[in-house]
Amino acid sequence: MTGIIGAMPEEVAMFKDSMEISGTVEYARMTFYRGVLKGQDVVLLHSGVGKVNAAIGTQIMIDRFDVQQILFTGLAGSLVPYLSRGDVVVSNYVVQYDFDLTAFGRRHGELPNTGRMIEADPRLVKFTCFGFDDIFKYEKDSPKLVVGTIVSGDRFVSDKRKIEWLQREFGAVATEMEGAAVGYTCFLNDVPFVVLRTISDSADDEAASDFEQSLHNASENSFRIVSSILEVMSYRSEVAE
Ligand code: ADE
Repeated sequence: MTGIIGAMPEEVAMFKDSMEISGTVEYARMTFYRGVLKGQDVVLLHSGVGKVNAAIGTQIMIDRFDVQQILFTGLAGSLVPYLSRGDVVVSNYVVQYDFDLTAFGRRHGELPNTGRMIEADPRLVKFTCFGFDDIFKYEKDSPKLVVGTIVSGDRFVSDKRKIEWLQREFGAVATEMEGAAVGYTCFLNDVPFVVLRTISDSADDEAASDFEQSLHNASENSFRIVSSILEVMSYRSEVAE
């Protein structure tokens, strides 16, 4: 079983419409849709925005649905000039940038015992790249795909100084509000995960309106890629070893 999580209803709407739903269950005021998408058993969740929602949803998925892997899908703000709206970011690492024990001499984002950077599953990162290539390789004006660090915090970033800090402090390429919470929960439970995000904005003054304008198209982009990953998983597993 593959878990698919998105934060906002718009980010999971196309999954819901495209999968054969065999049942829905509610836990913690969250609705989990069980079914089949592209021939794979999946459980889909719209977790709600932010790290706490994402962590709760992820833990429930792991406990109640016996997921073998989790894909987190949605939108992100770009932190680098070479990524713009419609481009795609795949996590190799995720960090909770707003976790702060610097008063005790730790680095920003560093948790006692578990460290700072949580590594996404390299096999899922490869599958995501294959899934992307299968869709866009021969398309004119294809978006870019970049594998890099994604930082998460309970804040919608729309501030130039914050962008610079996130980029320099963490070497991050994109920011959002859930990925590192999913990653951390998966890490504690030994469940492979990857975060895949389409860029909706540049985390600057225009970010809120860019985000709203991008929501539909960027969600569709992420949906197409996740669907393609599921297809790739069924026939290219040996390639990713
Ligand atoms: N998700 C998409 N854009 C974002 C931003 N600028 N900050 C936080 N989360 C986002």
